[in-house]
Amino acid sequence: MKELSLTKTKQTDLDKKRQKTLIESGVIPEHIAIIMDGNGRWAQSKGNIRLFGHKVGVDSVRDITEACAQLGVQYLTLYAFSTENWGRPSAEVRGLMRLLVSSLRKEADNLHRNNIRLVTIGQMDRFPDDCIEELDEAIRLTENNTGLQLCLALSYSGRWDITEAVKKIATHVQEGRLAPNLINDQMISDHLSTAEIPDPDLIIRTSGEYRISNFLLWQLAYSELYITKLYWPDFRRNELYEAIQSFQKRDRRFGKVRKKNKDEITQ
Ligand code: IPE
Ligand code: IPE
Ligand code: MG
Repeated sequence: MKELSLTKTKQTDLDKKRQKTLIESGVIPEHIAIIMDGNGRWAQSKGNIRLFGHKVGVDSVRDITEACAQLGVQYLTLYAFSTENWGRPSAEVRGLMRLLVSSLRKEADNLHRNNIRLVTIGQMDRFPDDCIEELDEAIRLTENNTGLQLCLALSYSGRWDITEAVKKIATHVQEGRLAPNLINDQMISDHLSTAEIPDPDLIIRTSGEYRISNFLLWQLAYSELYITKLYWPDFRRNELYEAIQSFQKRDRRFGKVRKKNKDEITQ
């Protein structure tokens, strides 16, 4: 087990044991993507303002990132701010931006020490300059790290991603470099913002909503979905382990038949 820690608290023996059991009991997803929902409701249920929920949500991000790195997950994509979230009251948007800057400032060195590489997907140019600068610095600092790749989806939407890919491909056609009948799935995947990242194996959504909210629309074609009623600030490593346990019990057929059934058919 790797000794990785983003927090000041040492990993407990019980947690090490839980992770070992999980690793031995089945496949650890290569790519986990999370729709981190419910910060506002969590705070309001405690009589607090929504921003307090976003702040405590950062503690969940730290815990989940650390646990993923320890388990050997290769890619963790976190839906942190959607294109549609720009439509929220400006005080909440500003608060979220400030939180992003302060969290990056606090966490960048920790990420680096833990060999975690930070990347982003989304319309970064819509963000204020101080956010872009802080992000660029953390991205540059961690760019050669070889452990977990932490991808923050910021001002992201699945439809935006697909639209941008279509524009790029259309340009190749217009310039006479590509015949339309050569356009295929792989080419579309290769023009998305996630071109360098495999499709998610497991998508987790907190807060009990049964929807995708414009997340990785193309990439989730064969992802396993896990929805929990818990609000994001209450989703910590033990809940992640439950999600992975559920994933390990799934039968991913990708439209084919189960191996056992296949043997019966060919007999
Ligand atoms: C998720 O929590 C964080 C963001 C979308 C930025 P919400 O802010 O959506 O919280 P709820 O869903 O309103 O409770
Ligand atoms: C999805 O949550 C976006 C993020 C987690 C960043 P929302 O709160 O924006 O989604 P809806 O409104 O419940 O669909
Ligand atoms: Mg929400």
